[in-house]
Amino acid sequence: MKKIAVIGGDGTGPEVVREALKVLKEIARLENFKYETQSFDFGGDRYLATGQIITDEEVAQLRNFDAILLGAVGHPDVAPGILEKGLLLKLRFDLDQYINLRPVKLYPSVDCPLKDKGPEDIDFVIVRENTEGLYTGSGGFTYKGTANEVATQLMVNTRTGVERCLRYAFELCRKRNDKKMLTLVAKTNVLTFAHDLWWRAFNEIAAEYSDIKTDYNHVDACCMWMVKNPEYYDTIVTTNMFGDIITDLGAMIQGGMGLAAGGNINPQGVSMFEPIGGSAPKYTGQDVINPLAAICAMAMMLRTIDLETAGDRVEQAVMRVTPQMKSMSAGKMGYSTHQVGDLVCKTLTTD
Ligand code: IPM
Ligand code: MN
Repeated sequence: MKKIAVIGGDGTGPEVVREALKVLKEIARLENFKYETQSFDFGGDRYLATGQIITDEEVAQLRNFDAILLGAVGHPDVAPGILEKGLLLKLRFDLDQYINLRPVKLYPSVDCPLKDKGPEDIDFVIVRENTEGLYTGSGGFTYKGTANEVATQLMVNTRTGVERCLRYAFELCRKRNDKKMLTLVAKTNVLTFAHDLWWRAFNEIAAEYSDIKTDYNHVDACCMWMVKNPEYYDTIVTTNMFGDIITDLGAMIQGGMGLAAGGNINPQGVSMFEPIGGSAPKYTGQDVINPLAAICAMAMMLRTIDLETAGDRVEQAVMRVTPQMKSMSAGKMGYSTHQVGDLVCKTLTTD
């Protein structure tokens, strides 16, 4: 019996998670596995009502699940940073989900903003370090509010943190396909301490993976290549902040936020899967948001909890649904949110 914790979260989060759960129910029936879900109301509404985001006891409770499915975090009435730090980053850090895995794959018939690029050109994966870098919250102010104000935000890179992320990327690259090329994306020409550590660790670990071709891009050049020659990439490994930025670029070239899924992974613990698009408050409750990213996040979740075939089948079904949709954008799909969920279920049953 698999135990899934469900956090609908803010904005359109609950709507897209509902569709992912609908598809989960269907695939469990078809693949004959048992699961149970438990919902948690963490998010902006609860925070506004009670002043509480998530307690340490509640985080501890989440450790008892096989995986977490998350909708979105971000509420228009809550100041920026509060829920992001208090919920999303807290879970990533406390559960030590040190990998943020974001596939960039263009599905059939999905509009790509890049001229002359198709599904055969866009199929790579970004491994983003998820617990260090600029995200640790180290730093602070001196003379705040004065003309002499100083603000620092430290970029933290530990040997252990960097190595475990790189190793995960090498392993993933090894089993992904025949391309076997791992690109480190960093900025060694400017961050001559922090990214020198990444560079040295990358080359040392590479010696253990003689079957994998290693490659390096500065992050600015990577943005250029992702647009110009996305077919070049296989597996990218990068730091937390650079990964945050280039995965949004990745989401656009794969057809938009409506399709972009990600996993916050602790290979030894509890992982959390989410559509990466955010809470999209202006579409809340309208049944117009694209649920495919959440459904794909759920498929990633299945693969991570030893239900590989089930996860693959869900992704296959999504790839047969995208050609039936007019667009991947909210309100323009030719279907409502729940109809897209229904289509995926129907496709699963008839495949
Ligand atoms: C993401 C988001 C988060 C991040 C925010 C909401 C803190 O942009 O998951 O990419 O920066 O990691
Ligand atoms: Mn982001």
